[in-house]
Amino acid sequence: MILPIYLYDHPVLRQKAEPITEITPELRKLARDMLETMYAAYGIGLAGNQVGVPRQIIVVDIGKEEGMERPLVLLNPELIATSAETVDMEEGCLSLPELRESVTRPASVQVRYLDLQGQERQLEAEGLLARVLQHEIDHLQGLYFVDRLPAIRRLFLQRKLERIARGEIVPPYPVVFGPTAVAQAPKVL
Ligand code: NI
Repeated sequence: MILPIYLYDHPVLRQKAEPITEITPELRKLARDMLETMYAAYGIGLAGNQVGVPRQIIVVDIGKEEGMERPLVLLNPELIATSAETVDMEEGCLSLPELRESVTRPASVQVRYLDLQGQERQLEAEGLLARVLQHEIDHLQGLYFVDRLPAIRRLFLQRKLERIARGEIVPPYPVVFGPTAVAQAPKVL
């Protein structure tokens, strides 16, 4: 089932996601739905908050070009190490349609998480995978990639962010708008 994606500045995207304590059939269904939603929107990562569920779950699929055959579902993901070396890479976000910016982040990371079987796992990642993992783990903390930009660059983006918040940028996938857009929507008489 394709779920609607919550857009900036819906409050759920600023919420800190709660840890997952039990792997239930509902949680497995949520993981499947999140993957379906991500693929339908041509995304490569999606966090629980982005489908209105502030729980610590992310899904990632960066495709085969980096040798990753299957999608990843990470529960309670935690960055346990990051490289001192940083790298600039352009990022986008399904909750911030039509906005792409270069962001500086650690080049490689180590992540600890639970898989859908409840097994504790660790993975080391660099390149695009490291980037997506950091972006999605940020979502679980209530952060957008634009929060990682220097203040002056964020200032330049302010008008575009306001347009998204007002519901003026409508992406080609089902969405839930934030309160500003809902308040400004034309009333049906
Ligand atoms: Ni995102």
